[in-house]
Amino acid sequence: MFNLKNILGTKCLSKEDIITILDTADSFKEISTRPIKKVPTLRGKTVINLFFEPSTRTRTSFEIAGKRLSADVINISEYTSSSVKGENLIDTALNLEAMHPDIMVVRHSLSGIAEMLSQYVECPIINAGDGYHEHPTQALLDLQTIREAKGTLMGLNVVIVGDIAHSRVVRSNIYAMKTMGMHVKLIGPPTMIPLEIEKMGVSVGYNLEDSIKGMDVIMMLRLQKERQSKYLLPSIREYSNLYCLTSQLLEKAKDDVLIFHPGPVNRGIEISLDVMKSERSFILTQVTNGVAIRMALMYLLLVNKNDNNN
Ligand code: CP
Repeated sequence: MFNLKNILGTKCLSKEDIITILDTADSFKEISTRPIKKVPTLRGKTVINLFFEPSTRTRTSFEIAGKRLSADVINISEYTSSSVKGENLIDTALNLEAMHPDIMVVRHSLSGIAEMLSQYVECPIINAGDGYHEHPTQALLDLQTIREAKGTLMGLNVVIVGDIAHSRVVRSNIYAMKTMGMHVKLIGPPTMIPLEIEKMGVSVGYNLEDSIKGMDVIMMLRLQKERQSKYLLPSIREYSNLYCLTSQLLEKAKDDVLIFHPGPVNRGIEISLDVMKSERSFILTQVTNGVAIRMALMYLLLVNKNDNNN
């Protein structure tokens, strides 16, 4: 039984919740391979995508997911909304809710905004990435992709490499991976690894070559140039020399290691082009699975809502 009203983060997902979401996503994957990629499951439902930060993968996959389930999907960006006239986000959400949507999907640069909005509106909220806080649907699609490739999650070793401090993807993955019994190691420059992050049940290292040995999954992160203070790194080239995953480094890893990146990729900065194109790279499979995960979440939240109304 799936009892959640909102998807605000993976911190509040139980192991059973995650398994239900992944199993449901698995069952939805096939719809996207049909000649006519549409089922009537959410006919008559309305999904509002409220994206106040740029996005290619997340926004598009939520839209495709909603449309493949026959929901009506409305996209709103910061620049086309009345926020440019000074309307605050709570008022925007309350006004949108007055039009009776069934789900609001929210991306915003402010950490905690999805949870805050969930206290003002009645309809379910899905967090599509809030500041440095969480990006739960990214972590869920990562888990689905790993489970699909490895057949299990329990006991797998994952190293996440790069700009840990600025990454909401890392936080959501740590919570979800620990819940699923996985071992997580974080690698990056010391200035980009928060103090005491080990309290989240992870280990920390600083050397990429040493850390990829024996790993089942290597997850490279984007160097978030737009969120950098110039004091964190001597230069992008220095970062790349130490933390770019190259095919030469990949020779130190297990033959069946999976390479992940949430995107968007800075080619040649955190990952080389040949590694991106290698058969170990699951970067585009992650994107494919993002549609199924978002279909699953909309389905589970709205079925649950219907059950509560009965
Ligand atoms: N992974 C991810 O969140 O990508 P977008 O910023 O393109 O949505």
